[in-house]
Amino acid sequence: LKKYRPYPPVRLTDRTWPDQVITSAPIWCSVDLRDGNQALIQPMNLEEKLEMFQLLVQIGFKEIEVGFPSASQIEYDFLRLLIDGNHIPDGVVPQVLTQAREQLIKKTFASLKGAREAIVHLYNSTSTLQRDVVFKMNRKEIIELGVAGARLIREQAERTETRIRYEYSPESFTGTELDFALEICEAIMDVWEPTPANPVIINLPATVELSTPNIYADQIEWFCRHMKNRDCALISLHAHNDRGEAVAATELALMAGADRVEGTLFGNGERTGNVDIVTLALNLFTQGVAPRLDFSRINKVINTYERCTKMKVHPRHPYAGELVYTAFSGSHQDAINKGMTALELTESGLWEVPYLPIDPQDVGRTYESIIRINSQSGKGGVAYIMDHEFGFKLPKDMRPGFGRVIQEVSDAYGDELTAEMVFHTFEKEYLLNS
Ligand code: KIV
Ligand code: ZN
Repeated sequence: LKKYRPYPPVRLTDRTWPDQVITSAPIWCSVDLRDGNQALIQPMNLEEKLEMFQLLVQIGFKEIEVGFPSASQIEYDFLRLLIDGNHIPDGVVPQVLTQAREQLIKKTFASLKGAREAIVHLYNSTSTLQRDVVFKMNRKEIIELGVAGARLIREQAERTETRIRYEYSPESFTGTELDFALEICEAIMDVWEPTPANPVIINLPATVELSTPNIYADQIEWFCRHMKNRDCALISLHAHNDRGEAVAATELALMAGADRVEGTLFGNGERTGNVDIVTLALNLFTQGVAPRLDFSRINKVINTYERCTKMKVHPRHPYAGELVYTAFSGSHQDAINKGMTALELTESGLWEVPYLPIDPQDVGRTYESIIRINSQSGKGGVAYIMDHEFGFKLPKDMRPGFGRVIQEVSDAYGDELTAEMVFHTFEKEYLLNS
């Protein structure tokens, strides 16, 4: 087996998160325009950034990381466009990322001139790997770097009219010894002097996802418990998806005590992406928790996302993919058909349709594509199509026979049959011959 750097240990034998459920939505922050954008083959141009920003506002994001304005001219220009063009509605706060260097911090503040409010997000990397391999700095030097950046930001913040909120990320947190992550965050909080009324955001990123989700949750719980001034900080999560577990890790870490989530639509972002906020929000929705984000017109969200990012939403993407409300196989179709019929009869208000964990109409999808016909389909599926598409209620004893006919036709055709083809087969088989 190949050898990998050991994971910094966490020892939490009395963890609380197994007993918890998520009872309210976290504070959401979209990083589509920064982490998402920086990972695109073709980064967004100004028009696309504005279209994406407006979509994020419509969805209901109140905090949006709009870029790294000191790192590229287009990101600087985008901030100027947002501010000078009056595109930031009341209640929406732009967030900007910066490293701990004087010139970068000054340019960041210049980009914000005229904004009512902003979150300035400082980061430096803290993991053992990054300290040893990239920065060649010891713990003390890494703390000095972060603290120097925090001081410069405070100085700038005290000189501007913009109401500045502070955020700090020990980048590569999940590869950092917990005591050291805590030490650097507290050193930075000492500079910024937050209060419960004016808390700082401490963002604890899984910059690279290195462990199973329970370990991330344990790290978050350990951190929350050991902080000196927990009430002066909002604990933020920022999970990447290298192991494909970012949604699970974020959900467990919320149960472990975090307040806020940074992520992207459909999980765009570096490598395997950031955590997918669409899935997180709709997971809450299906558990009866108001997500405070509006995905009731998911097709519009998909279209704008695909146009701006030039990425595709996978057909099996939770809640959003083209195929996630569709059944081809006979037994699933039969169960869905029964569930939908029971729904019409009982009007109980409860969504109880097997194989469909969410009513497609809740995300603005129609029932049209729920059942589609190919050689895997059966009697329930064809009965559903005849009824819902053509108002033709097939008698029960006719269904098995017609189901077999459709399977034969579909086998011979070798592809999906449209509703019209199903109807046409029915006509040929039963009406025209009689
Ligand atoms: O993944 C990460 O650690 C980041 C930081 C800049 C917050 O994107
Ligand atoms: Zn990131």
